[in-house]
Amino acid sequence: MIFLPNSLSIHKPSNLNRFTKITNSYLHFILPFIAIFTVNIHIMYKGFLHTHYLVVSLFLLLYVIKTVLLLSNKTDLLKTFSKKTKLFEIIISFLFLLTGIYLMTQIPYGGKYDYLLWIKLVMIFASIPIAVIGFRRSNKMLAALSLLMITGSFGLGEVYHKKKGIAKEMDTTTPLAANDGKALYEANCTLCHGADGKLGMSGAKDLTTSVMDLAAIKEIIIHGKGAMPAAQVNAEQATAIAAYVNDQIKGH
Ligand code: HEC
Repeated sequence: MIFLPNSLSIHKPSNLNRFTKITNSYLHFILPFIAIFTVNIHIMYKGFLHTHYLVVSLFLLLYVIKTVLLLSNKTDLLKTFSKKTKLFEIIISFLFLLTGIYLMTQIPYGGKYDYLLWIKLVMIFASIPIAVIGFRRSNKMLAALSLLMITGSFGLGEVYHKKKGIAKEMDTTTPLAANDGKALYEANCTLCHGADGKLGMSGAKDLTTSVMDLAAIKEIIIHGKGAMPAAQVNAEQATAIAAYVNDQIKGH
């Protein structure tokens, strides 16, 4: 009875020590990576985007092959193929969801085409059980339907990016938008600073508490600073953004 608390009191600190030691070395190992990742959030975003595309293409390819085999009654071949590609499919599916979820968290929401993304998401998550049931029961209708849904959601994503790309281009090239500081801010700055200036992604400063004057803000937009990249805008646009930040975000 007496030994129990004693042994506990001896073990507790050493266990705790070991725990802190392990977490400490773990943190020391992982923190530089986090730092690099957050600083290079743009590079990381691009990396995830490219991985996502690659993985989705492979996934679609796999799916098309499997569906064609099922539709053409090559059941044995389908079985062998499914078996051989099982691990590959698991890895691909995992990366598909992982990169997809990450990308979803990085999109500056609030555009008028957001609904396309939600339809896409619903279609992807609805197609998964349909595909599982379809292939398990060799139900051609369901298998084809799920392939259609996955291809469709891929197409929707493309439409979304195209529409947004066009919207963005219009913001930065038409003379009308050249002095629309708000639209330009939303297209170029919200990823890190947020619509209200407070987001602070990848070490971005809170713009509401900034003490920079108009000229200094324009300067940082054009040339960037530290982890903030120079914005891809012309001088006129930079002036419009700076005015918007100075009047509408700073001190608000
Ligand atoms: C990739 C992320 C990123 C984007 C995009 C970005 N910023 Fe920044 N911004 C930062 C970071 C990081 C800092 C801190 C820089 C430093 O001080 O080293 C910063 C600092 C600033 C500051 C200085 C605030 C202060 O008081 O020190 C201003 C102003 C600013 N950003 C405005 C903008 C505007 C306007 C845009 C859009 C044209 C924009 N930023 C786009 C990351 C970003």
